[in-house]
Amino acid sequence: MEAISTSRRKRILSGMRPTGKLHVGHLMGAIENWKRLQDEFECFYMVADWHALTTAYREPQEIRARVHEMVLDYMAGGVDPERCVFYVQSDVPEIAQLHLLLSMIVPVSWLERSPSYKDQITQLGSDIATYGFLGYPVLMTCDIIIFKAQVVPVGQDQVPHLELCREIVRRFNGFYGPVFPEPHPRLTRFAAVPGLDGRKMSKSYGNDILLADEPDTIRQKMRNVLTDPGKVYKGDPGRPEICTVYYFHKIYNQAEEKEIFEGCHSGALGCVDCKKRCSEAIVRGLEPLQERRRALAANPGAIDEMLREGGMRAREVARETLAEAREVMGLGAPRI
Ligand code: TRP
Repeated sequence: MEAISTSRRKRILSGMRPTGKLHVGHLMGAIENWKRLQDEFECFYMVADWHALTTAYREPQEIRARVHEMVLDYMAGGVDPERCVFYVQSDVPEIAQLHLLLSMIVPVSWLERSPSYKDQITQLGSDIATYGFLGYPVLMTCDIIIFKAQVVPVGQDQVPHLELCREIVRRFNGFYGPVFPEPHPRLTRFAAVPGLDGRKMSKSYGNDILLADEPDTIRQKMRNVLTDPGKVYKGDPGRPEICTVYYFHKIYNQAEEKEIFEGCHSGALGCVDCKKRCSEAIVRGLEPLQERRRALAANPGAIDEMLREGGMRAREVARETLAEAREVMGLGAPRI
């Protein structure tokens, strides 16, 4: 008789900090993969509100509203709560308990030498030189391993965190036996989307296009995009390969991509025209998503209910893993 595979689908975990509304970089860099992988894997997608507190602990007023905005964007982007588990990180306290356990074994030097830790301290100052922020990658590791997720679809900027995560997993498994799989990042073709000024697209740089931007806002923003500085006049040959506008054509205007490339290169196509065609393509591309977003936003109660259900499912899995970690670390089951 032929053997039937009964093994469960592999798991995915990913999430984002609730920074408010998502931009095109988030969509193309991560959410597209969340959507693409939702049938092949058992997917857990969350909003990392504890992680938001590691840097924004002085402005907590906004966090709850931002969580809601993010979930709307996840769903508008096509991630389907019927097929995936959506939840909010702080609704799953088992993650915090696992974080405490892991923090026993993670050397401080590993965290201090993390490039993003050093960068952020330089950029944001000593306000974030806290115990919690130092532990950011440990918490992120817990997010992932509490579901024994093997694949983590994220943008390029998260890859160093995942390397640290694998090191922590190897250390844990080395001490206590093979409890956790080593997770790997999964990147999209557009894992590092440039912003309007040519730097990486980021809310904190103010160079983004939001999924929720009105068509006129998109057109306005696109008029100001930095293009190849070597192309000054229409007729000058440009270098599409270094131009942000061309990058957006690749994403949203694949039908005309080749013609745009050649037109820019030869000088036949001017930047003004190229930008206009690009804005219209982005507006068209985001339209269905914005329509979905409006419909979802009209029913906030449904989002809350979905997050409650998702949180309960996430906790079921998280409880099992936490019990295993307590066991191998010698604590055993709680007495009460
Ligand atoms: N660090 C991620 C970000 O800044 C958010 C995050 C928290 C995350 N925990 C995670 C991403 C676990 C992937 C897996 O967006």
